[in-house]
Formats: sequence, structure tokens, C-alpha cells
Amino acid sequence: MSDRNRRVVLAERPTGMVDERTTRLEEAEVPAPGPGEALARVRYISIDPTIRTWMNDAPGYLPLIAIDEVVRSGGVAEVLESNSERYAPGDLLFGMTGWQDYVIADEGARALQALPPGISPTAALGVFGITGMAAYFGLTDVGAVKEGDVVVVSGAAGATGSTAGQIARIKGAAKVIGIAGGPQKCAWIVEELSFDEAIDYKAGDIGAGLREAAPAGIDLYFDNVGGPILDACLGQLALRGRVVLCGAISSYNARGGASGRQLLDADHPARAHGGLHHPRLLRPLPAGAGRDGRVAGLGRDQVGRAHRRGPRARARRPQPAVHGRQHRQGDRQGLRRAERPAGAGLVGALRA
Ligand SMILES: NC(=O)c1ccc[n+]([C@@H]2O[C@H](COP(=O)([O-])OP(=O)(O)OC[C@H]3O[C@@H](n4cnc5c(N)ncnc54)[C@H](OP(=O)(O)O)[C@@H]3O)[C@@H](O)[C@H]2O)c1
Repeated sequence: MSDRNRRVVLAERPTGMVDERTTRLEEAEVPAPGPGEALARVRYISIDPTIRTWMNDAPGYLPLIAIDEVVRSGGVAEVLESNSERYAPGDLLFGMTGWQDYVIADEGARALQALPPGISPTAALGVFGITGMAAYFGLTDVGAVKEGDVVVVSGAAGATGSTAGQIARIKGAAKVIGIAGGPQKCAWIVEELSFDEAIDYKAGDIGAGLREAAPAGIDLYFDNVGGPILDACLGQLALRGRVVLCGAISSYNARGGASGRQLLDADHPARAHGGLHHPRLLRPLPAGAGRDGRVAGLGRDQVGRAHRRGPRARARRPQPAVHGRQHRQGDRQGLRRAERPAGAGLVGALRA
């Protein structure tokens, strides 16, 4: 055991991309556990897009990370010493460990949860962690997914999106369409994860891809990215279609705010970080938006008209890149745990 606690602290708030000035590696004493506390060695940390939003100087669903504070993140830690009946040496715990070597778990606000037997640390941080929960409750509770829905998921090869698409399939969606970047990710979500089709947003016009993949409209759009992809999906929403505002990754590093014409930008209280469980969702949203991150009742004719470009612009657009296969009726296989291709987004955990 190292006698120093290496920790990554927030050095300054980023205004665009995070760079070497944003964080600082420093060393501190290994903390000593007090009464009712345990000292745990951090074994895995999670590096999630949402951490970027906690670095901003803007209110969110969790307090900001303060300057000089350890970067907040999920993680898994092993108990080394304990003065609490709740924790025993050797226990694996998960919760907010932060990016550091050692963490103190107490029995109150800084309590960590024991990993249930049989659950791997990476599953605890992934499919059973924040991203898995966001996918599950976003689709079933906020989005009220139902049999026969045409579901579109963006960020579909990422931790949240890949889980959301599989849940939609298990819940009986008529068609699950994923939007991802690059042919490798598109092939992976169709061949391994049972998405019906994939649209490569880096290869062609998303709007055209959506019109081809969902000609009768999108019943439920699970949005992880915001920006132009959100615009395109709103433009293809079916009458009484629903939108789950889970994240807006395309604008997290944007200087001067989110791009384009999207209905709700990254800073909007209804979105993301917010979108699924933020108490401010209970406030009324702008025209057309519902509660709980749902945007209800916007038909594509209503929303799309404002967003569509003229026919000449459309004619110049490149062809959509749609990867797909025929829908397999009644496909109810469980979540696949296959490895994602390199660069398919964060698995949710890194070995510390
Ligand atoms: N509301 C909640 O409680 C909650 C919980 C967890 C996550 N989230 C949100 O869900 C989203 C995904 O998080 P995650 O943890 O699943 O992340 P992740 O595993 O890192 O996946 C993110 C995906 O987004 C895609 N992406 C990145 N930049 C993009 C852009 N400009 N346009 C389109 N796609 C882009 C990436 O793939 P490509 O290579 O295909 O671009 C990647 O697969 C984030 O917005 C996050 O904040 C919300």
C-alpha cells in the first residue's frame, strides 16, 4: 500500500475542451478512518461525460466540483481498514469514490454500497450503475416504452445508449434504430446488440437516414447527444411521439452555449443530468414540452416544419448511411455483455 494518496483535483474550470490545465495531479496523506468510517483503496474509477458538466460554473443536478476538490466520479473501492460494522476489510464497495487512490466511507453522506455477490466491478459501474439506471428508467418510466414503438437511440454505441437500445428490444419495440459514429460501431450495435438499424451520423444526412429507417415516424426518441441529431429526430417525430432528454454530449464542450436549433439546450433545467431525475423537472417547460424530461405531443409536422431546410438544400445532402437487418420478431434476448469495439465510448470503468 502506497503511503501517499494520489488524487486528481480540479485546477480550473474548462471553457471548451478539458485540457492539461483543467486538472492537477497531487499527493496527500492517506486519510485515517475515524469512528464509524472505513478506509478503502480505489480499484476502478468511472470517466463519464457527465463529469464535464460538473466542472462548469453553472448549477446542475449535483453541486459543482469546487476548485482544488478531487474530481467527483463513480468508482469501486476495496476496504482496507474499518471502524464500522457496516464495512469489513476485503469488501468491494461502489459509489462516489472520486479520482484518487484512497477514499473514506462513512455511514452517512459519504457511505458507499457493498457490491452484491456475483456483480463484477465493471457491471456495477456500467449496466447496474448510473448509465444502466438512466437507460432503464429513461426508457420505461420517462419514455414509457411500449410494444410496437419505433424507438431511436442516439449515442447508441455508448454506455447508456447501448443499454437503452437493448432494453427497448426486450420491451417489444417494433423497431430499434441506433445513431452512432462510424461503420464499426454501427455494425456492432446491429450484429451484437440486436438493434434493427444503425445510422452513421458521421457518414451522411441524419434526417434522410431517419426518413428511410422510420418512414412512419419515431414514437420514442432517447436523446443522449442533443444538437443537430436532436433536431433531426424532432423533425421525424410521429404524432404523439415522446422524447427522453437524457444527455447532450455534443454540446458539453461548446463555448458560448449549445449549437443550433435544438428544442432544449444543454443548460436547460429539463435536460440530461436533469433529464431523468432532476427535481426542477417538475417546473413547467417551454411550449410543447412535458414533465419528467418527456416532450410529448409534438408531431413531426408540427416540429419538423420549423426545422426542415428547403428542397434545394435537401437535394444537395449526401445519402444516408443506414446499416440494418430485418427485424427479428419477438427477439427477447437479454442484455449482451459483449466487448465493445475500441473507441466505442467509455465502458464506464478504468482500472486505477
Ligand atoms: N440523465 C442521466 O441520469 C444520465 C446518466 C448517464 C448518462 N447521461 C448522459 O448520457 C449521455 C451518454 O453518456 P454515456 O455515459 O453513455 O457516455 P459514453 O459511453 O461515453 O458514450 C457517449 C457516446 O456519445 C457519442 N458522441 C460523442 N460526441 C458526440 C457528438 N458530438 N454527436 C453525437 N454523438 C456523440 C460517442 O460515440 P460516437 O463515436 O458515435 O460519436 C459515444 O458512443 C451523456 O450525454 C450523459 O451525460 C445522463
